[in-house]
Amino acid sequence: MEDLKRIERSVLARARRAKAPADVAEIRAEVLGKKGPLGLALRSLGELPAEERPAAGQKINQLKGKIEAALDEAHARVQANARADELESGAQDVTLPGRRVVPGNPHPLRIVERDIIRALESLGFAVAHGPQVEHDWYNFEALNFPPDHPARDTQDTFFVSDAVVLRTHTSNVQIRTMVKGKPPIRILAPGMVFRHDEIDATHTPCFHQIEGLWVDDKATFADLKGVLHVFAARLFGPERKVRFRPSFFPFTEPSAEMDVSCALCGGSGKGGCRPCKGTGWIEIMGAGMVDPAVFEAVGYDPEKVQGFAFGMGLERIALLRWGVDDIRLFYENDLRFLEQFRPGDTR
Ligand code: DAH
Repeated sequence: MEDLKRIERSVLARARRAKAPADVAEIRAEVLGKKGPLGLALRSLGELPAEERPAAGQKINQLKGKIEAALDEAHARVQANARADELESGAQDVTLPGRRVVPGNPHPLRIVERDIIRALESLGFAVAHGPQVEHDWYNFEALNFPPDHPARDTQDTFFVSDAVVLRTHTSNVQIRTMVKGKPPIRILAPGMVFRHDEIDATHTPCFHQIEGLWVDDKATFADLKGVLHVFAARLFGPERKVRFRPSFFPFTEPSAEMDVSCALCGGSGKGGCRPCKGTGWIEIMGAGMVDPAVFEAVGYDPEKVQGFAFGMGLERIALLRWGVDDIRLFYENDLRFLEQFRPGDTR
């Protein structure tokens, strides 16, 4: 009994003095281990007279419980102290300058795409998408490019198989939209297109277009001109003039090309102006009234519906807008180039 009292006093005192979790663990191993004082006491029970053994065993177990509780408490205390020390030593110096967050910005082609969509949204156009790997029928045939027609040669095509191509324009989305739905239709189809072109300052085998389609029972060429006027004024500024020249596309009749007056020379073409090659005008898109053959292909009655379409290359618009002279810059992902384009930063 004397020994137990002594053990109790010394162990509890040590527990109180413990400073670190390791101190507590050490005491625990030493005192509660098999070879510790409690273990010895239990083993020496055999030396006592049989009638004293139960009471003595109980005492030893009680002491064991008490020591365990004291060690748990000591552990919680040193743990909390350690945490407090850590917080104090790692405290933040709130007077240090912050880390600079480098803001990202959209790719210039995305900026152009978004601005074109914005310019036309308020006229009721909604964005539509279609596949980049496309069946010949949607890319060509329904758009009135018959098989073996020379017009196909204008679109150097990547073939996936005889009947499947990488789309050469986003005009496939016109067809998909009309096949699925009924007029009135007003869509804008932006996206990536592919042509088998040699890479140079104005060509890349993959580029971007945005196409517009407006179909109802009364849309006229005058509506087409009105829409494109609004578009050009919003995108390039009200001071720019537009003109339409006759052209040819299999899927429109009549067809036109739209030019905007050159921003650099103000439309005069004087001084051998580079962007407009001295003409004062820059071609930016193709357009026209949807050919009746296209309506027939998608199951519309050309006597009952009419509409117009237009399509342009985003790279071309971006080159003009920012005076960039090499299309490859848009694809090299050099941050020194890309960082110069901020949304809302027109011309
Ligand atoms: N799909 C034509 C191209 O890739 C662009 C185009 C021209 C689209 C006239 C049209 C359009 O919708 O009416 O060259």
